[in-house]
Amino acid sequence: MSLPRFADMHARGEKIVMLTAYDATFAAVADAAGVECLLVGDSLGMVCQGLDTTVGVSLETMRYHTESVARGLRRVQGTAWLIADLPFGSYHASPEQALRSATELMQAGAHMVKLEGGGWTSDTVRFLVERGIPVCAHLGLTPQTVHALGGYRVQGRGSEAAALLRQQAHALQDAGAAMLVLEMVSAALATQLTGELKRCATIGIGAGRGTAGQVLVLHDMLGVGLGKMPRFVRNFMADTPGITQALQAYVRAVKDGSFPDDQVHAW
Ligand code: KIV
Repeated sequence: MSLPRFADMHARGEKIVMLTAYDATFAAVADAAGVECLLVGDSLGMVCQGLDTTVGVSLETMRYHTESVARGLRRVQGTAWLIADLPFGSYHASPEQALRSATELMQAGAHMVKLEGGGWTSDTVRFLVERGIPVCAHLGLTPQTVHALGGYRVQGRGSEAAALLRQQAHALQDAGAAMLVLEMVSAALATQLTGELKRCATIGIGAGRGTAGQVLVLHDMLGVGLGKMPRFVRNFMADTPGITQALQAYVRAVKDGSFPDDQVHAW
């Protein structure tokens, strides 16, 4: 996979399938199942490390898991695009700090880095993109700032909040972000943004079926977790005999638009 390939899919309306991965074996299995984009998400803090939030995840941990996933892909000559999350505190001080952190993750095997938030992040996105580092932005529910947001709740509600989110999304596109994760925003707002952002593919998680692609946390879609599953998750293991089949079912459901179901998984 490559950025021009994603841009072409976005333009043609073919859905982009993204899933988190944290280790070599799952990366290889997901790649073989047809997942086009693997995200080494800092959600690993919660699903692998048992943390309450993603705030405690370090750059060193992200580098370790990115290397593992990249090795898994290399072992099977996988073609998935590999995105790694810049963790909390690794890009906030300055664009230069972001460049140093992003460099570590790119050298660990990432093709793109993801960072959370709008407003001040646009300058950082531009700084990285100008230096040859592809960037995926992340708006809506941004888990690294869950304490500031007051909990895991739907974002962009009300005309003022929606207008701010829209303005931030356009600024991130203008800064060069090639992808934008929209987490827990209304399906209507996500669909509107997807139509407006021609140079930036929206990837939804709890944002309805109108986005250019979908992402889920691997453990969630396999139906294993330590807490309550968010409403936007479907357990793809429920009707399948094994993990490979569940991953294939996820790929099919995103591609044919049957997941997510806006009546069930969205707001
Ligand atoms: O960390 C992560 O896994 C993420 C996804 C939920 C989008 O950011």
